[in-house]
Amino acid sequence: MSKSLLVIGGSSEIAHSFIKMAALKDYNITITCRNEETLNKTCSDFYKDCGRIINGVVLDLTDSEKVATFFDDREIPDVLFIAAGTLGDVNVCHYELKNQLEIINVNYTAIATLLASVTDKYKAKGDGHIVVISSVAGDRGYYSNYVYCSAKAAISTYLSGLRAVLYPHGVNVLDIKCGLVETKLNAHRKKPKLLTASPDYVGMQIFASMQKRHTIVYTPLIWYFIMGFVKMIPEFIFKKLKF
Ligand SMILES: NC(=O)c1ccc[n+]([C@@H]2O[C@H](COP(=O)([O-])OP(=O)(O)OC[C@H]3O[C@@H](n4cnc5c(N)ncnc54)[C@H](OP(=O)(O)O)[C@@H]3O)[C@@H](O)[C@H]2O)c1
Repeated sequence: MSKSLLVIGGSSEIAHSFIKMAALKDYNITITCRNEETLNKTCSDFYKDCGRIINGVVLDLTDSEKVATFFDDREIPDVLFIAAGTLGDVNVCHYELKNQLEIINVNYTAIATLLASVTDKYKAKGDGHIVVISSVAGDRGYYSNYVYCSAKAAISTYLSGLRAVLYPHGVNVLDIKCGLVETKLNAHRKKPKLLTASPDYVGMQIFASMQKRHTIVYTPLIWYFIMGFVKMIPEFIFKKLKF
């Protein structure tokens, strides 16, 4: 029987190649998008690309009531892949209150809520994979976007505890510490070419890491070393760096 995959944030460019890999392995695929229009476009683009029909559900992660009840009448999938994330409104200061709340909600609160609603179900199921895209930004708080950094740090910490809870039940929890990737999320930013990966490469890496039941993965790997260095910078120097 085919395994099932549910992708939260199905229009993510990084998720696209992950979904393609899953289609090749004959997964039964469902995605969520934040509105009907994106959902229809994403499903029809995927059909044009891969000739596979995928199922779709609308889920806006800022709708806390829908998020809390999303799994009430839904079976949990063999693979739950949470790709959704946001930098908020990049034309507004990141700690402007409304913007800050959206960044924290989408990147942390909504995801933690979804995970809380499936934890007991995965315990009972006794197998499966939970894969969440966090970020290397969660390893330290930067001058320019520390709200996003703090939400990613929070979700990675949540995943660490959840992994310990689900490990004895045969469920693997994979935290993807993603480096710079060329997607619409950060299209507004100038990025160093050498350090910016393609979404296809990163999506494939995530799929391979899930199959190997890895737990924390820096992708591309170079970010493991970069962040090792960044984490060592003493705070009295770090506080003077404006990036
Ligand atoms: N690109 C990078 O350099 C980078 C680096 C580190 C971590 N990441 C993380 O990687 C993940 C995927 O991002 P990406 O690079 O593939 O960018 P992306 O293509 O913009 O994907 C972000 C996804 O999150 C969805 N999303 C945003 N707000 C939402 C909301 N309120 N409700 C539901 N879905 C919402 C987006 O939906 P729409 O299509 O409707 O906007 C989209 O599907 C994110 O968690 C991001 O934080 C990316």
